[in-house]
Amino acid sequence: MAHQLGRTLITRDEIAARVGELGQAIGRDYAGRSPLLVAVLKGAVVFTADLIRAIPLSVGFEFMGVSSYGSRARTSGVVRLTSDLSVSIEGRDVIIVEDIIDTGRTIHYLRRNLATRHPRSLALCVLLDKVARREVELPVDYVGFVIPSDFVVGYGLDHDGLYRNLADILVLERTADS
Ligand code: IMP
Ligand code: MG
Repeated sequence: MAHQLGRTLITRDEIAARVGELGQAIGRDYAGRSPLLVAVLKGAVVFTADLIRAIPLSVGFEFMGVSSYGSRARTSGVVRLTSDLSVSIEGRDVIIVEDIIDTGRTIHYLRRNLATRHPRSLALCVLLDKVARREVELPVDYVGFVIPSDFVVGYGLDHDGLYRNLADILVLERTADS
C-alpha cells in the first residue's frame, strides 16, 4: 500500500515544551532518587534522548528491544523480546519510556516481564497515547499527548523503518492509487 506524509499533528516546538514538562514532573516525583529509564527500541530513542536532558536528576538509561508479530501497522498481540537489558534492575526505580501506545499489548508484555525482575518501582512514560485503540487496560504514569487513531511518523516513529528522523510528528496517509 502506498503512503504519503500528511498534516503535521504535533510540531517540534510543542514536543519540546511537553518533553520539558514531563522531565520536570519526573524530577519532582523522583526527587532524591536516581531512576533508571528503560527505553523501547527503536521508536523511543529520540524521545528518550530529549527526556533525559529534561530531568533534573541523575538518571540512567538502558534499552530493550521488542517486536510484535503481525503486519506492520497492526500489533498481533504476540510480543517477542529481541534485545534484553544488560543490567539488573533489582531494587531500581524503573521508568519504561515508549514512543506510543496503541492497543497496549507491547507495554503490557514489557511491564509484566520487567516486574518479575523485582524493581523497587515500575512506572511508564509514553510520548503518545492512542487511547481510543486500547485493547488491554494499562496504567500510564506520564503521557505526552493523547492523539487520535491515525498512523503517525516522525520524532522516532517509523513506517517501514523510515521517517524516524523527522523533527515534527506527522500523519501518514494512504494514497488512493494503491
Ligand atoms: P501496541 O502494542 O498496539 O500498543 O503497539 C505499540 C507499537 O506499535 C509501538 O511501539 C509502535 O512501534 C507501533 N505503533 C503503533 N501505532 C503507531 C503509529 O501511529 N506510528 C508508528 N508506530 C506505531
Ligand atoms: Mg515501538
